[in-house]
Amino acid sequence: MRKKVTVVGAGNVGANVALRIADKELADVVLVDVVEGVPQGKGLDLLQSGPVQGYDVTVTGANDYAPTAGSDIVVITAGLARKPGMSRDDLLAANSGIVKSATEEAVKYSPNCILVLVTNPLDAMCWVAKQISGFPRSRVIGMAGVLDTARYRTFLAMELGVSVENITAMVLGGHGDTMVPLVRLTNVSGIPVTELIAPDKLAAIVDRTRNGGAEIVKHLKTGSAYYAPSAATVEMVESILKDKKKVLPCAAELEGEYGVNGLFVGVPVKLGASGIEKVYEVQLQDSEKAMLDNSVAAVKELVEVLKKQMGL
Ligand code: NAI
Ligand code: 2OP
Repeated sequence: MRKKVTVVGAGNVGANVALRIADKELADVVLVDVVEGVPQGKGLDLLQSGPVQGYDVTVTGANDYAPTAGSDIVVITAGLARKPGMSRDDLLAANSGIVKSATEEAVKYSPNCILVLVTNPLDAMCWVAKQISGFPRSRVIGMAGVLDTARYRTFLAMELGVSVENITAMVLGGHGDTMVPLVRLTNVSGIPVTELIAPDKLAAIVDRTRNGGAEIVKHLKTGSAYYAPSAATVEMVESILKDKKKVLPCAAELEGEYGVNGLFVGVPVKLGASGIEKVYEVQLQDSEKAMLDNSVAAVKELVEVLKKQMGL
């Protein structure tokens, strides 16, 4: 039997996640959105790409969760973008409400699913999904590190004029401008990147990576990135569905690793059929640990606001 993936939110990221899953023929996909007609229309459009692209998976759309029953993975991309006059806390309250209801509905119909969160602010939304689902940490995973690392690898490959595939790197921490690209552990086919790129150029690349999302928003003016985010999400989905056991930077709830408890932070994890099968604790130097602590503090601040807003 084919695997089944639900994608909540049929907007830019959600629709492209569905498209990439279908193109790779990974699973049947159900798109869910609150806007009537949009998930149904996009689902049908994607289904009709099958004969041309050569896939036989089904893609359907709905405004309720009954058709999502028995999903192996539920990807949550539903959310609002920040609107003029809206504070960060307003956005936090709006998106946490959306993630709360999406999680409640999703787990009602798919109690054994793995939740993959995309909605921002990412690390805080993972926390909401974990509280509401009551799932073990292996089954609540946030997408951000794969995207941030992809941006970092892209900029390094551009600078060196080499294949992106030769860049091995890892960006840790929360999904925000406090994220921690681990320069010391970055290499180009085994050659330390610090031997290939001067410190000032590397610092500029790290800075561009930290502001990678904002750079795209500046170009687009309305909305944010979705091609790379959907690709990053589907790399995680594929690793789970195929039990590939890829080691990827994902937001995971820490249970004492890196000195953190009960917060979602981007760290290297092994992703397989059970979800997060291992959290890797990298030995960090003092300066790297200080950057990670700073990033964790930013996540903690949002979670403290949420605890008050949601009474959790
Ligand atoms: P979008 O605005 O194109 O799509 C969001 C969709 O969610 C809309 O179709 C909307 O109707 C739907 N929606 C709203 N409330 C809903 C609900 N209660 N149930 C179901 N659907 C609902 O936005 P886009 O570009 O797809 O981004 C989605 C989210 O992902 C945003 O929060 C964005 O900031 C975040 N994001 C996170 C990234 C990451 O690295 N974690 C990367 C890119 C985007
Ligand atoms: C990004 O990094 C908006 O989180 C999104 O592009």
